[in-house]
Amino acid sequence: MKDEGNNIFSVFDELLQRSDKEIALNQFSKVIWMTGLSGSGKTSIAIGLERKLHTNGYLTQILDGDNIRTGINKNLGFSDEDRTENIRRIAEVSKLFLNCGVITINCFVSPTIKIRKQAQQIIGENDFIEVFINTPLDVCEQRDPKGLYKKARNGEIKDFTGVSALFEEPTSPSIEIKTEKKSIEDCVNALYSEILILIKR
Ligand code: ADX
Repeated sequence: MKDEGNNIFSVFDELLQRSDKEIALNQFSKVIWMTGLSGSGKTSIAIGLERKLHTNGYLTQILDGDNIRTGINKNLGFSDEDRTENIRRIAEVSKLFLNCGVITINCFVSPTIKIRKQAQQIIGENDFIEVFINTPLDVCEQRDPKGLYKKARNGEIKDFTGVSALFEEPTSPSIEIKTEKKSIEDCVNALYSEILILIKR
């Protein structure tokens, strides 16, 4: 294709860029990737964080098991292969939001270093913010909000993370939140102050 000045250009050159959208939204987009055991508090913290960000004028999207495993990933289970595909698709979806200038807050067990590395590679090192929601297994098991640990111990659920499937703790997460002795509000405030520096224009 040629323009009036006879310069060759592609229609893609006319696409709005991520930076145009970030300017319009007055924020920098990032993927806040929360990893941790089931019952560690990822979703509760994400909900509080999203509310706080919204109040302060930031546009966000939460991605978690409820809106992903019942929709785009409803054909996937919890084998290693399915978890890898789960995380791959989530990382690709996150990248679309990222390029739209939106901050995504992801809550996925994402149990292995390899699986999180895959997500980081898809999203890009600078935009993937690994947050370890660090809650000891016995505390998660005591909370057992969905009764799943009990079922896993009874053998009703197999390959359950922390009981009969591996959880590898992140070795150097960008942010670590130890929840055991903190309220949800304290966890949200701690995370908010750490990420503000990354998203504020
Ligand atoms: S991941 O391992 O592929 O990242 P994901 O975060 O999507 O897992 O889903 C985890 C949620 O699914 C848990 O919080 C729990 O509610 C539910 N779940 C059901 N079966 C399992 C299982 N075998 N292992 C872990 N979580 C499970």
